[in-house]
Amino acid sequence: MTVKKIIESPNPILEGLNEKVSTFDRKLVKLLNDLMDTMMEYDGAGIAAPQIGVNLQVCIVYPDDEIGLYELINPEILETEGEESEIEGCLSFPGVYGYVARPTKVKIKAQDRKGKTFTFEAEGFFARACVHEIEHLSGDLFDKKIIKRVTEEELVALNSEAEVQ
Ligand code: CO
Repeated sequence: MTVKKIIESPNPILEGLNEKVSTFDRKLVKLLNDLMDTMMEYDGAGIAAPQIGVNLQVCIVYPDDEIGLYELINPEILETEGEESEIEGCLSFPGVYGYVARPTKVKIKAQDRKGKTFTFEAEGFFARACVHEIEHLSGDLFDKKIIKRVTEEELVALNSEAEVQ
């Protein structure tokens, strides 16, 4: 089990475009495992490689136990539909929460840990988590998209868990 240190903003590692994965080897499997261990440790619903200091187009999403784990390598958003605003948080921005508008539905293409291409559709919080993580891979951070900030006290009052990603 390797829990990595989370890179917090501001840090140039979190900004800019990340490199595409071209070698699907044991190093990639190790990275995916480290992402999983780190996400679990910090109770996130997703995490992207730059957040643990690796500038590659790799992220994972774990919206809930029912949907389970999605490992996304070189992901691309193919289609989006609708828009909804919900409270979001990010592991790289401790204590920062706010409403962010995201598509209600998305269609995504990605590669799995063996390099096989797959597509899938996500809705609601699952779609939000996917878009949040995929944007990390181009250095697009959620704080710039916040429509309205929410304090931790307000979050408690709203009885919302606003999962961090
Ligand atoms: Co994030």
